[in-house]
Amino acid sequence: MGRGLFISLEGGEGSGKSTQAKRLKEWLESQGQCVLLTREPGGTPLAEQLRQVIFEPAAALDAVTESLLFQAARTHHTTHKILPALAEGQVVITDRYLDSTRVYQGVLGEKSVAWVDELHRLTAGDVWPDMTLLLDIPAEIGLPRAKSRGDATRFEAMDIEAHEKIRQGFLQLAAAEPKRFVMIDASKSLDEVSAQMQAAVQKLLERGDA
Ligand SMILES: Nc1ncnc2c1ncn2[C@@H]1O[C@H](COP(=O)(O)OP(=O)(O)OP(=O)(O)O)[C@@H](O)[C@H]1O
Ligand SMILES: [Mg+2]
Repeated sequence: MGRGLFISLEGGEGSGKSTQAKRLKEWLESQGQCVLLTREPGGTPLAEQLRQVIFEPAAALDAVTESLLFQAARTHHTTHKILPALAEGQVVITDRYLDSTRVYQGVLGEKSVAWVDELHRLTAGDVWPDMTLLLDIPAEIGLPRAKSRGDATRFEAMDIEAHEKIRQGFLQLAAAEPKRFVMIDASKSLDEVSAQMQAAVQKLLERGDA
């Protein structure tokens, strides 16, 4: 049986990942695809428990422990949910994946992107998305959107400058891998963003074996 397609959605807080992940799933299903929508950190009961630990405001995690917790969640999620779905030929959409750790703990944090990548190689079978949709949005637009939801985690309690640094981190990763990353202008309307994403995924379907 053919292998499915693995799509990750990345971008800063309030860029619209969770909103668009659901829309993309619905669109793919309307095209007859079997879709698994999942998220990180999380995606399995154990990884969701780790998510709570990671986002606990009083956790006081050092950089290495934090990275290891993210990667423990990712390994469990990859092994027990993503890979089995791909083996069945499903399209897997994940709301954040490795690139979020590469930006937050690698580009911006105390560890390097190479360190994050090596950890992933050692622990999660070096699984990479076939396509990463980067929902790019200026901090001035994205931050108010994130705050408007009123459920800020410790990662979201940040200012415009921090938000813009995250944006630049994602742009840096995208520039290094122009084949895997597809830039999405997330400042547009919901429908316009969905259309950009559908066009990208349509191309992936045409060249993939799903
Ligand atoms: N294109 C858009 N235009 C206007 N509002 C939007 C758009 N996309 C998303 N929103 C709104 O912005 C808020 C944040 O969107 P969403 O939760 O999807 O972002 P996110 O990328 O998942 O954020 P986080 O990384 O914090 O989970 C929501 O209230 C959503 O309804
Ligand atoms: Mg979200």
